[in-house]
Amino acid sequence: MKHTIYFITILVIALFAACNNSDKSKENLKSDYTKMGNSIVKKTFDTLRSSLQTAISQSGFEGAVPYCKTAAYSLTNIYASDSVTIRRTSLKYRNPANKPDTSEERILKIFASLKEQGIINDSIKPITEGSKNGEVHFYKPIMLQQMCASCHGSKSADIQPPVWKTISTLYPLDMAYDFKTGDLRGMWHITFTKIK
Ligand code: HEC
Repeated sequence: MKHTIYFITILVIALFAACNNSDKSKENLKSDYTKMGNSIVKKTFDTLRSSLQTAISQSGFEGAVPYCKTAAYSLTNIYASDSVTIRRTSLKYRNPANKPDTSEERILKIFASLKEQGIINDSIKPITEGSKNGEVHFYKPIMLQQMCASCHGSKSADIQPPVWKTISTLYPLDMAYDFKTGDLRGMWHITFTKIK
Protein backbone atom coordinates (compact mmCIF):
# COMPACT_ATOMS: atom_id res chain seq x y z
CA MET A 1 0.00 0.00 0.00
CA LYS A 2 2.76 2.36 1.05
CA HIS A 3 4.53 1.57 -2.17
CA THR A 4 1.47 2.25 -4.23
CA ILE A 5 0.96 5.66 -2.62
CA TYR A 6 4.63 6.42 -3.13
CA PHE A 7 4.39 5.39 -6.78
CA ILE A 8 1.24 7.44 -7.41
CA THR A 9 2.80 10.51 -5.79
CA ILE A 10 5.86 10.23 -8.04
CA LEU A 11 3.64 9.70 -11.06
CA VAL A 12 1.56 12.79 -10.26
CA ILE A 13 4.70 14.91 -9.75
CA ALA A 14 6.17 13.62 -13.03
CA LEU A 15 2.96 14.34 -14.90
CA PHE A 16 2.84 17.83 -13.47
CA ALA A 17 6.41 18.49 -14.47
CA ALA A 18 5.76 17.18 -18.00
CA CYS A 19 2.63 19.29 -18.27
CA ASN A 20 4.39 22.41 -17.08
CA ASN A 21 7.20 21.77 -19.52
CA SER A 22 4.91 21.46 -22.48
CA ASP A 23 2.99 24.56 -21.35
CA LYS A 24 6.29 26.35 -21.20
CA SER A 25 7.38 25.29 -24.68
CA LYS A 26 3.93 26.22 -25.98
CA GLU A 27 4.39 29.68 -24.45
CA ASN A 28 7.87 29.95 -26.01
CA LEU A 29 6.51 28.98 -29.41
CA LYS A 30 3.70 31.51 -29.02
CA SER A 31 6.16 34.24 -28.18
CA ASP A 32 8.28 33.29 -31.24
CA TYR A 33 5.24 33.67 -33.47
CA THR A 34 4.33 36.97 -31.80
CA LYS A 35 7.85 38.27 -32.52
CA MET A 36 7.64 37.10 -36.15
CA GLY A 37 4.17 38.60 -36.52
CA ASN A 38 5.37 41.94 -35.17
CA SER A 39 8.36 42.01 -37.47
CA ILE A 40 6.30 41.07 -40.56
CA VAL A 41 3.74 43.78 -39.74
CA LYS A 42 6.47 46.37 -39.21
CA LYS A 43 8.15 45.53 -42.50
CA THR A 44 4.89 45.42 -44.44
CA PHE A 45 3.60 48.64 -42.90
CA ASP A 46 6.89 50.50 -43.51
CA THR A 47 6.87 49.42 -47.17
CA LEU A 48 3.18 50.27 -47.56
CA ARG A 49 3.54 53.68 -45.94
CA SER A 50 6.59 54.63 -47.97
CA SER A 51 5.00 53.59 -51.29
CA LEU A 52 1.88 55.57 -50.29
CA GLN A 53 4.01 58.62 -49.45
CA THR A 54 5.92 58.41 -52.75
CA ALA A 55 2.65 58.09 -54.69
CA ILE A 56 1.13 61.05 -52.79
CA SER A 57 4.14 63.28 -53.48
CA GLN A 58 4.19 62.29 -57.16
CA SER A 59 0.51 62.33 -58.00
CA GLY A 60 -1.39 63.67 -54.98
CA PHE A 61 -3.93 61.80 -52.84
CA GLU A 62 -6.17 61.19 -55.82
CA GLY A 63 -3.42 59.40 -57.74
CA ALA A 64 -2.34 57.52 -54.61
CA VAL A 65 -5.72 55.85 -54.01
CA PRO A 66 -4.65 52.47 -55.49
CA TYR A 67 -1.54 52.36 -53.26
CA CYS A 68 -3.14 51.55 -49.91
CA LYS A 69 -2.94 47.84 -50.72
CA THR A 70 -0.81 45.08 -49.29
CA ALA A 71 1.31 43.67 -52.09
CA ALA A 72 3.40 40.55 -51.90
CA TYR A 73 6.46 41.86 -50.12
CA SER A 74 9.45 39.59 -49.76
CA LEU A 75 9.63 38.26 -46.25
CA THR A 76 12.65 37.16 -44.30
CA ASN A 77 13.05 36.10 -40.70
CA ILE A 78 10.26 33.57 -40.70
CA TYR A 79 10.31 29.90 -39.86
CA ALA A 80 11.44 28.09 -43.02
CA SER A 81 8.76 25.48 -42.37
CA ASP A 82 5.90 27.96 -42.51
CA SER A 83 4.14 29.73 -45.32
CA VAL A 84 2.75 33.11 -44.44
CA THR A 85 -0.28 35.08 -45.58
CA ILE A 86 -0.84 38.73 -44.74
CA ARG A 87 -4.26 40.33 -44.63
CA ARG A 88 -5.74 43.59 -43.44
CA THR A 89 -9.33 43.69 -42.37
CA SER A 90 -11.78 46.02 -40.65
CA LEU A 91 -15.37 46.17 -39.36
CA LYS A 92 -15.77 49.22 -41.64
CA TYR A 93 -13.98 48.09 -44.78
CA ARG A 94 -13.45 49.80 -48.13
CA ASN A 95 -12.74 46.78 -50.31
CA PRO A 96 -15.26 43.94 -49.85
CA ALA A 97 -12.30 41.53 -50.28
CA ASN A 98 -11.15 42.77 -46.86
CA LYS A 99 -14.40 41.87 -45.11
CA PRO A 100 -13.64 40.07 -41.83
CA ASP A 101 -14.43 36.36 -41.44
CA THR A 102 -15.95 35.03 -38.20
CA SER A 103 -12.66 34.76 -36.27
CA GLU A 104 -11.46 38.13 -37.53
CA GLU A 105 -14.72 39.76 -36.50
CA ARG A 106 -14.38 38.24 -33.00
CA ILE A 107 -10.86 39.67 -32.60
CA LEU A 108 -11.78 43.08 -34.10
CA LYS A 109 -14.54 43.31 -31.49
CA ILE A 110 -12.06 42.51 -28.71
CA PHE A 111 -9.76 45.32 -29.91
CA ALA A 112 -12.73 47.69 -30.26
CA SER A 113 -13.92 46.97 -26.72
CA LEU A 114 -10.40 47.56 -25.33
CA LYS A 115 -10.42 50.94 -27.08
CA GLU A 116 -13.85 51.70 -25.64
CA GLN A 117 -12.52 50.96 -22.17
CA GLY A 118 -10.04 53.76 -22.79
CA ILE A 119 -6.95 51.56 -23.08
CA ILE A 120 -4.21 53.60 -24.76
CA ASN A 121 -3.40 52.49 -28.31
CA ASP A 122 0.15 51.31 -27.70
CA SER A 123 -0.94 49.20 -24.73
CA ILE A 124 -3.31 47.10 -26.85
CA LYS A 125 -1.26 43.95 -27.29
CA PRO A 126 -1.42 41.79 -30.41
CA ILE A 127 -3.17 38.43 -30.08
CA THR A 128 -1.52 35.14 -31.13
CA GLU A 129 -3.65 32.00 -31.30
CA GLY A 130 -3.17 28.45 -32.53
CA SER A 131 -5.97 26.74 -34.41
CA LYS A 132 -6.93 23.05 -34.48
CA ASN A 133 -5.51 22.53 -37.97
CA GLY A 134 -2.04 23.58 -36.80
CA GLU A 135 -2.11 27.12 -38.17
CA VAL A 136 -0.98 30.04 -36.02
CA HIS A 137 -2.83 33.36 -36.29
CA PHE A 138 -1.39 36.72 -35.30
CA TYR A 139 -3.66 39.77 -35.02
CA LYS A 140 -2.50 43.35 -34.48
CA PRO A 141 -4.61 46.52 -34.36
CA ILE A 142 -4.12 49.33 -36.92
CA MET A 143 -4.72 52.85 -35.62
CA LEU A 144 -5.44 55.82 -37.86
CA GLN A 145 -2.59 58.28 -38.29
CA GLN A 146 -2.98 61.84 -39.42
CA MET A 147 -1.90 61.19 -43.03
CA CYS A 148 -4.54 58.45 -43.40
CA ALA A 149 -7.41 60.93 -42.80
CA SER A 150 -7.07 62.31 -46.35
CA CYS A 151 -8.63 59.05 -47.55
CA HIS A 152 -10.29 57.61 -44.40
CA GLY A 153 -11.39 60.77 -42.53
CA SER A 154 -14.49 62.92 -42.83
CA LYS A 155 -15.92 63.46 -46.31
CA SER A 156 -16.61 67.11 -45.60
CA ALA A 157 -13.44 68.05 -43.71
CA ASP A 158 -10.57 65.71 -44.65
CA ILE A 159 -11.20 64.02 -48.00
CA GLN A 160 -10.91 66.36 -51.03
CA PRO A 161 -13.82 66.07 -53.51
CA PRO A 162 -11.72 64.63 -56.41
CA VAL A 163 -10.21 62.04 -54.04
CA TRP A 164 -13.67 61.11 -52.81
CA LYS A 165 -14.87 60.81 -56.40
CA THR A 166 -12.07 58.36 -57.26
CA ILE A 167 -12.70 56.33 -54.10
CA SER A 168 -16.45 56.10 -54.56
CA THR A 169 -16.06 55.09 -58.22
CA LEU A 170 -13.63 52.28 -57.36
CA TYR A 171 -15.39 51.23 -54.14
CA PRO A 172 -19.12 51.99 -54.38
CA LEU A 173 -19.85 50.14 -51.10
CA ASP A 174 -17.08 51.90 -49.15
CA MET A 175 -17.52 52.15 -45.36
CA ALA A 176 -13.94 53.17 -44.50
CA TYR A 177 -14.38 56.88 -43.84
CA ASP A 178 -15.23 59.14 -40.86
CA PHE A 179 -12.22 57.88 -38.88
CA LYS A 180 -10.26 60.26 -36.64
CA THR A 181 -6.57 60.17 -35.75
CA GLY A 182 -6.05 57.46 -33.10
CA ASP A 183 -9.22 55.54 -34.00
CA LEU A 184 -9.08 51.78 -34.48
CA ARG A 185 -9.00 51.57 -38.29
CA GLY A 186 -8.72 47.79 -38.52
CA MET A 187 -6.11 45.09 -37.95
CA TRP A 188 -3.39 42.98 -39.49
CA HIS A 189 -3.96 39.24 -39.66
CA ILE A 190 -0.90 37.10 -40.31
CA THR A 191 -1.46 33.36 -40.79
CA PHE A 192 1.43 30.90 -40.41
CA THR A 193 0.71 27.58 -42.10
CA LYS A 194 3.01 24.58 -41.81
CA ILE A 195 4.34 23.49 -45.19
CA LYS A 196 3.70 19.76 -45.51
C1 HEC B 1 -4.52 57.85 -50.94
C2 HEC B 1 -5.63 57.31 -50.20
C3 HEC B 1 -5.36 56.47 -48.99
C4 HEC B 1 -4.54 56.79 -47.93
C5 HEC B 1 -3.69 58.02 -47.72
C6 HEC B 1 -4.68 55.69 -46.97
N1 HEC B 1 -5.55 54.74 -47.46
FE1 HEC B 1 -6.10 53.02 -46.52
N2 HEC B 1 -7.17 52.46 -48.13
C7 HEC B 1 -7.32 53.22 -49.29
C8 HEC B 1 -7.92 52.38 -50.30
C9 HEC B 1 -8.26 52.79 -51.72
C10 HEC B 1 -8.15 51.11 -49.71
C11 HEC B 1 -8.71 49.85 -50.36
C12 HEC B 1 -7.50 48.99 -50.77
C13 HEC B 1 -7.87 47.67 -51.37
O1 HEC B 1 -8.52 47.66 -52.43
O2 HEC B 1 -7.49 46.64 -50.79
C14 HEC B 1 -7.65 51.19 -48.35
C15 HEC B 1 -7.70 50.15 -47.45
C16 HEC B 1 -7.23 50.19 -46.17
C17 HEC B 1 -7.31 49.11 -45.20
C18 HEC B 1 -7.87 47.70 -45.45
C19 HEC B 1 -9.30 47.51 -45.03
C20 HEC B 1 -10.30 48.13 -45.98
O3 HEC B 1 -10.90 49.14 -45.54
O4 HEC B 1 -10.49 47.67 -47.12
C21 HEC B 1 -6.76 49.57 -44.05
C22 HEC B 1 -6.64 48.81 -42.73
C23 HEC B 1 -6.27 50.91 -44.32
N3 HEC B 1 -6.59 51.27 -45.60
C24 HEC B 1 -5.59 51.69 -43.38
C25 HEC B 1 -4.94 52.88 -43.72
C26 HEC B 1 -4.02 53.56 -42.84
C27 HEC B 1 -3.67 53.11 -41.42
C28 HEC B 1 -3.54 54.64 -43.52
C29 HEC B 1 -2.50 55.65 -43.07
C30 HEC B 1 -1.20 55.12 -42.74
C31 HEC B 1 -4.20 54.64 -44.83
N4 HEC B 1 -5.03 53.56 -44.92
C32 HEC B 1 -3.99 55.62 -45.79
C33 HEC B 1 -6.91 54.51 -49.48
C34 HEC B 1 -5.99 55.19 -48.68
